[in-house]
Amino acid sequence: SLCFLLCSFAFLSLPLFHTFISLLTLFLGDVRVRSRAGFETERRGSHPYIDFRIFHSNSEIEVSVSARNVRRLLSFQRYLRSSRFFRGITVPNSSNILDDDYNGQAKCMLEKVGNWNFDIFLFDRLTNGNSLVSLTFHLFNLHGLIEHFQLDTMKLRRFLVMVQEDYHSQNPYHNAVHAADVTQAMHCYLKEPKLSESLTPWDVLLSLIAAATHDLDHPGVNQPFLIKTNHYLATLYKNTSVLENHHWRSAVGLLRESGLFAHMSLENRQLMESQIGDLILATDISQQNEYLSMFRSHLDRGDLCLEDANHRHFILQMALKCADICNPCRTWELSKQWSEKVTEEFFHQGDIEKKYHLGVSPLCDRQTETIANIQIGFMTYLVEPLFAEWARFSNTRLSQTMLGHLGLNKASWKGVQREQSGGGEDADPAFEEMDSDILPQEPRLS
Ligand SMILES: *[C@@H]1O[C@H](CO)[C@@H](O)[C@H](O)[C@H]1NC(C)=O
Ligand SMILES: *[C@@H]1O[C@H](CO)[C@@H](O)[C@H](O)[C@H]1NC(C)=O
Ligand SMILES: [Zn+2]
Repeated sequence: SLCFLLCSFAFLSLPLFHTFISLLTLFLGDVRVRSRAGFETERRGSHPYIDFRIFHSNSEIEVSVSARNVRRLLSFQRYLRSSRFFRGITVPNSSNILDDDYNGQAKCMLEKVGNWNFDIFLFDRLTNGNSLVSLTFHLFNLHGLIEHFQLDTMKLRRFLVMVQEDYHSQNPYHNAVHAADVTQAMHCYLKEPKLSESLTPWDVLLSLIAAATHDLDHPGVNQPFLIKTNHYLATLYKNTSVLENHHWRSAVGLLRESGLFAHMSLENRQLMESQIGDLILATDISQQNEYLSMFRSHLDRGDLCLEDANHRHFILQMALKCADICNPCRTWELSKQWSEKVTEEFFHQGDIEKKYHLGVSPLCDRQTETIANIQIGFMTYLVEPLFAEWARFSNTRLSQTMLGHLGLNKASWKGVQREQSGGGEDADPAFEEMDSDILPQEPRLS
């Protein structure tokens, strides 16, 4: 009967899409549906899962669904399973020599966590897929946050494992490795002289948590897709920063569930939750023009005063925005991998949209788009303007390095483009309309 359901789906019209998804989730007994009523925070994994694997093959379904249910039920089990890397550390003298060896190499990499060339893909392999947990834990330690805020290290690990688990590993791009990459970039920015001289431990704490959670529970499709399929998140957040609100609310849910800051006053916890929200919401790329023109006028007037907490938080919003779209500012080897991954995610959405006659979103059509065109447009209209201002604010070697890679990478993609088309188009025009919803807000190649 499931096969029948799936096959007949191709003939359903658009308004029925959502109904169908709901039916399907009900039918498959997805536990995520249960907590729909929770508005304040979104409990972990609270949104009806859009599991596109269900469209591909029948046999995969039972495996993935039952695995997911078991995972949800046995959360402590899950914690143990996914924290193998840490068990290697917390349980002295792990018997697995291979694990120890990988541990050793991962630890060695962490000594250079502040390098702009840090290879997060390699680090993820060395940590057995636990890059987000291990990197963030290390950074908490490095910045003295555990001591300063009297954090319980078991609670901290548990919190980070829950965060990592609530990223969807099947997303080619918006997964825990992207979150780890953004957190690593954020760390590099926090070390910049202007910031490190003025930031308080509180600022650093919020920055790292926001970076690690900024795409939490990302469904692998963009906001326009959620709106046109009448996804309940679009309704819940009134079609505005739908994903970012969800990432934030999910992060708040995990913070509360972990009890990591239960020893702090209610006022401080509430302040933390709302400030993390300000940071995460700033990553909505469709709002970039607003943030950028504010940044620009501050720089023109030269009136940024980092002793002022409001100004510091504005700079942290800009820093997180930079970290989120810094892929083109990395070395070609790293940058190219990110480009391939994000394009794969876009094209996957486009395939679904075609298959179910939802209208293909800009940048998502594998028939008409190329990686090179998408990247050149992304760099020209979003990355270059942002990093040019960032370099005005913080004119350091790191900023020059990032602009250097950006220029080289763009030239490389132009080379690819010339080979492919004999020198036709330049930048993808879809990016010029970035104020509207037309831009998949996820070249937030975020
Ligand atoms: C672990 O093993 C090393 C060497 O084999 C030994 O020196 C150390 O004391 C052991 N640690 C514990 C906690 O047993
Ligand atoms: C969200 O967008 C959809 C589709 O354009 C529209 O039908 C709906 O009314 C919008 N919801 C709100 C709250 O604006
Ligand atoms: Zn992101």
